[in-house]
Amino acid sequence: MRDAIITGWGKCLPPAVLSNSDLETVTDTSDEWITTRTGIKERRISHVEMSDLSAVASQHALASAGVAAEDLDLILVATCSSDRMIPSAATMVQGKIGAINAAGMDLNAACSGFIFALSTADQMIKTGAMDTVLVVGAEKLSNWLDFTNRSTSVLFGDGAGAVIVQATDTDSEVGLLAFELGSDGTAGDLLCVPSSGTEGPADRPELPRIMMEGKEVFRRAVTSMSDASTRVLAAAGLDIDDVDLVVTHQANVRILDATARRLNIPPEKMFVNIAAYGNTSAATIPIALAEAIEEGKIEPGGIVLFAAFGGGFTWAAAVYRWGPRVESLGTSQAQLPPNHKTALELLAGNIAVHGTGV
Ligand code: UT7
Repeated sequence: MRDAIITGWGKCLPPAVLSNSDLETVTDTSDEWITTRTGIKERRISHVEMSDLSAVASQHALASAGVAAEDLDLILVATCSSDRMIPSAATMVQGKIGAINAAGMDLNAACSGFIFALSTADQMIKTGAMDTVLVVGAEKLSNWLDFTNRSTSVLFGDGAGAVIVQATDTDSEVGLLAFELGSDGTAGDLLCVPSSGTEGPADRPELPRIMMEGKEVFRRAVTSMSDASTRVLAAAGLDIDDVDLVVTHQANVRILDATARRLNIPPEKMFVNIAAYGNTSAATIPIALAEAIEEGKIEPGGIVLFAAFGGGFTWAAAVYRWGPRVESLGTSQAQLPPNHKTALELLAGNIAVHGTGV
């Protein structure tokens, strides 16, 4: 049977840390509020572009899989914060890592993007169209933070994660056992970045900034992720007790707790790293996955449940049976160029335009 499995994984977090106490100096908030209402303690602010974060994460994933960049057939970058509208982030990554034989395209499903891209890679491989696909989830949302809005500016951060998905011949099914992708375009205005594309007058004075109806997004995130998870488990013929690890989009620790309660999942099976990185949108799941493997939380043959929810609205869930290997085949020396600025210094341009909330 031809299946598609993850054979390599990598991540790239920019070094500048924006702590909750840093945020207290630019928006009307407190470490206590952010910690108790979101679970976030700090997030990273990038000194380079999103495609640079993606390229480094990708080089780590390639080394982990023991795959050369020239062997890639396709690069999928899940993002909603591309460096440019043209060219795509995927072609920029292709150029940066030297994947001369790969096609590249971006996929925007906001915070659900990584599962959308992973299932696209899976289907490309299962049909026989492709053998080796690089899937990246990456964001640089710090450009769009608006410190006059304390209910969004404390949530988001920058980062990238990547996996290599490869064809494999197996006797028993491995890889994605079932997945569900969904959208509700009638709710688009509840989580959006107005004027971040071509809309509006050409001379519009506004710069893009994230806008969100947090309470409604919270409610829909919990119901969508838990309901879709229940359906994909049923489609795979599995029960919640069969799941070894749950890796969901990291938006708010209270969303994760509520989802776990609805699905009856014990806390030790939920992977949570939001305290360190905040919400990195499409990047949260591949970063979390790389860390879960590094921490020995995934075993050969283990069942991983993925779920995500984001702007659009979009949601996705997938059940994945891990392959035979949880160790990397190699390592990469790839790293970002040095950064000499603090997170607040990196945000100075943003703050000069948007202002602060203090
Ligand atoms: O990635 C997918 C998309 N994102 C999400 O999934 C995020 C979903 N939503 C959330 O995580 C939460 O709704 C938020 C974290 C955004 C907000 O938490 P909440 O518990 O829903 O708070 P709230 O909006 O109901 O606000 C409660 C109070 C308000 O004050 P008043 O009106 O009660 O006086 C807010 O003004 O908390 C205030 N508040 C803050 N206070 C200090 C809101 N943000 C802050 C803040 N610091 N950063």
